[in-house]
Amino acid sequence: MNLTEGTTSTLPVPSDPSTAAGHEPLRLGVILGSTREGRFGPVVADWFLSRVGARPDFTPELIDLAEVDLPAAPTARPGPAARAELAKVTPRLAAADAFVVLTPEYNHSFPAALKSLIDWHYAEWQAKPVGFVSYGGISGGLRAVEHLRQVFAELHAVTLRDTVSFHNAGALFDEDGRHTDPADCDAAATTMLDRLAWWGLALREATALRPYAA
Ligand SMILES: Cc1cc2nc3c(=O)[nH]c(=O)nc-3n(C[C@H](O)[C@H](O)[C@H](O)COP(=O)(O)O)c2cc1C
Repeated sequence: MNLTEGTTSTLPVPSDPSTAAGHEPLRLGVILGSTREGRFGPVVADWFLSRVGARPDFTPELIDLAEVDLPAAPTARPGPAARAELAKVTPRLAAADAFVVLTPEYNHSFPAALKSLIDWHYAEWQAKPVGFVSYGGISGGLRAVEHLRQVFAELHAVTLRDTVSFHNAGALFDEDGRHTDPADCDAAATTMLDRLAWWGLALREATALRPYAA
């Protein structure tokens, strides 16, 4: 089952992707937080990229943490190996106008690789919106998302209320990685991406006018 937060909201939702009409598409960093052997994450990533790829208001780029080997603990003076790994991700985070984090839930929280990526960076997150697509067992990854909200608040990022979550995710997709009943999750993705477009444009314009100083 997919949980769509915000379906009972009475607030107006900017449901038209042309929210960003007349603007440069928002550069969207899609961060895949699961890295383990045999992970389910790429199925969720493919689904999400197919949704966002259909929209004119975003230019998505997948940032797959399985392709980065950051040391767990950040240091002020990273050595050559750490610098080489940072070079794979830091410029891409810096260039993004907005993020969507794809996260599973491990022991009621989010993966260590994701925490490591977050901790290695600071200014790259500031004054940018962050949306979530979560998945897991019965929890749908919701506890991982709530932990991530606390972490991103410390980094001056703005997390979105509306999320997409997949409960018992493995049972929802067929052997080819297609969701077997995608109406609800597609609708949830549309809502989340509409919100992200609003915040992404608002913050991009605001920071161009007045740099965010934290
Ligand atoms: C170490 C570990 C801990 C997990 N803890 C939880 C949990 O607390 N709640 C939950 O709903 N699912 C939990 N799961 C299930 C995963 O969220 C689920 O298998 C998910 O698909 C894993 O994503 P991945 O395959 O991309 O790593 C856990 C899985 C692992 C490997």
